[in-house]
Amino acid sequence: MFNRTRRLRTNKVLRDMVRENKLSTENFIYPLFFVEGNNIKEEISTMPGVFHFSVDMIKEELNELISLGIKKVLVFGVPNHKDSIGSESFNDEGIVQMAVKEIKKHSPDMFVITDVCMCQYTDHGHCGILSDIGVVKNDITLDYLSKIALSHALSGADMVAPSDMMDGRVSAIRQTLDNNGFKYVSIMAYSAKYASNFYGPFREAAHSAPSFGDRKTYQMDFSNSDEALIEIESDIEEGADIIMVKPALSYLDIIRRAKDNFNIPIAAYNVSGEYSMIKNAISQGLVSDDIIYEIVLSIKRAGAGIIITYFAKELAKKINNENL
Ligand code: PBG
Repeated sequence: MFNRTRRLRTNKVLRDMVRENKLSTENFIYPLFFVEGNNIKEEISTMPGVFHFSVDMIKEELNELISLGIKKVLVFGVPNHKDSIGSESFNDEGIVQMAVKEIKKHSPDMFVITDVCMCQYTDHGHCGILSDIGVVKNDITLDYLSKIALSHALSGADMVAPSDMMDGRVSAIRQTLDNNGFKYVSIMAYSAKYASNFYGPFREAAHSAPSFGDRKTYQMDFSNSDEALIEIESDIEEGADIIMVKPALSYLDIIRRAKDNFNIPIAAYNVSGEYSMIKNAISQGLVSDDIIYEIVLSIKRAGAGIIITYFAKELAKKINNENL
């Protein structure tokens, strides 16, 4: 006697019936990059198929996303003006704020999430306020992050996503939002965000590379896994509605530990380096583009039901056309 596990693989109907995981457009959040100016739709050199948009050029993209069934976007801004305190990040007429207003005006049903961070906005490229000796100061940075989140909420954001990795930012943002009448603006915290080499193409896209040093005093050491659980636990205590692991693919173990340990929705960020490596391998003919579904599904199988991915549009087309 032995088990014939092949029995349930004999035909597609049967395989579909016992399938444990599948990707749906509901799982995806699509990142959008906004630049200042007019009439701009420019492919980002490090990220094939991903574009910089000026606010006036976003309508067509929104129509496409909606027709594909993608209902959530994550907004990033690339400002022209940078200074030591990242003033443009909390300017009510800043690039993100204008983008959110335009998205809501054109597509009121689009769920708009904003990335809350300072690195695109500071002239030094770090994610907070610097001390005299160039260390990112935690507690003063919280005031700025709160101001940024509030200004995003005022412009119409449905959810804010702090990606700076300062301690205490979730509770600071939660309090500020609550005190200003935004009790129902939710927080998706980049909880376990690692100091990763996979952000390279994004930093090119967002002009956000640090001008000196690195982010290792605030982002996590990729050697650690227990520490991710501490980060996640404190974000939940501080009031995060959704927690995130970032990057995704070299961190599937972290996603799984988060899933096994916490009963809260888990997001994962399939980041720019992961995207560009795969796109390059496909365009060089090394692998077929069917690999995209397999790879992104692995993030869901690991335990993340919410996936931020530059592949969202391609995947939605595949899912819709091939009835996956
Ligand atoms: C801002 C931020 C980064 C990413 C998202 N928000 C870059 C960084 O921390 O350096 C990376 C996203 C990606 O690589 O796709 N702090």
